[in-house]
Amino acid sequence: MLIAAARTPADLAAMVDRRAAGQPLEHVLGWAEFCGLRIAVEPGVFIPRRRTEFLVRQAVALARQAGAQQAGAQQRVVIVDLCCGSGAVGAALAAALGRVELHAVDIDPAAVRCARRNVAAAGGRVYQGDLYGPLPAGLRGRIGILAANVPYVPTGEVGLLPLEARIHEPMVALDGGGDGLDVLRRVTAAAPLWLAPGGHLLTETSERQTPQAAEAVASGGLVPRVAHSAELNATVVIGTRPGGQD
Ligand SMILES: C[S@@+](CC[C@H](N)C(=O)[O-])C[C@H]1O[C@@H](n2cnc3c(N)ncnc32)[C@H](O)[C@@H]1O
Repeated sequence: MLIAAARTPADLAAMVDRRAAGQPLEHVLGWAEFCGLRIAVEPGVFIPRRRTEFLVRQAVALARQAGAQQAGAQQRVVIVDLCCGSGAVGAALAAALGRVELHAVDIDPAAVRCARRNVAAAGGRVYQGDLYGPLPAGLRGRIGILAANVPYVPTGEVGLLPLEARIHEPMVALDGGGDGLDVLRRVTAAAPLWLAPGGHLLTETSERQTPQAAEAVASGGLVPRVAHSAELNATVVIGTRPGGQD
C-alpha cells in the first residue's frame, strides 16, 4: 500500500520510516478504508474501525425503514454524526442513503478539519464543540438518525490499548471516564430533545458494557435495543424515541 501511495522513491522511504517508527498505516497513507470509501485521516485523528461499519449498517436499515413509511414525502433524512472524528460514519451514511441532511460535531479541531474534507461531497456541515452545544437549535426534535460513536474505554483500561492507539490517537477520542460511559450518559440524557418522534440514537459499545449502556439509553427516555455482530465483534445499542409510526 505504501508503494502504491508513494509518488517518488524518497516519498516511499519517508513513509516506510514513519511506519517503522510506529505510526499507524492509515496516518501514513492519509486515509482509511471504511464502508468501501476512502476516508481522509490526518495524524492525531481517530482512525475509523472496521467494527463501526456495523453501526452504519444498522443505521442505514433504520433510515430506509423510516423512508419507506413516509413514501412520497420526499423528505431528506436528518442525520447527526455526534463525536464524528474523521466523519467516517456520516460520510458512509450519506453515501449509502443518497438524499440526506448531514450535520457532524467533534470537540477536537483536528477531527473537525478532517471531517469537513470527508463530508463535503454530501454537503454535510461540521461544527466544533461539546456534543449538542454547537448544533443549530432548529435541529431539535428533527433528527432521524443520531449516530454517536463516543469514546467508551474506561480510564483505567486506556493503558491496555495497543500502542498505536495510545500514542497516535488523542486521549479525548478514547477515554470514556471511570466506567467508560461518561460521554454516553451525557449523549443519552439530551437525545430525546433532539430526536424526531420515532428517531434513533445508535451508539457502539463493548459486550461487557452493554447492560449499562442500554440502561443509560433507557434512563434518557428512549426505548433500547441491542444488536450484535459476531463477525465484526461489534455491539450497537439503539435507542428509539417513542411516538413514531411503528
Ligand atoms: C471513538 S472516536 C469516534 C470517531 C468517529 N465517530 C468514528 O467512529 O470513527 C470519538 C470522538 O469523539 C470526540 N469527542 C470526545 N468527547 C467529545 C465531546 N464532549 N463533544 C464532541 N466530541 C467529542 C473525539 O474527539 C473523537 O473524535
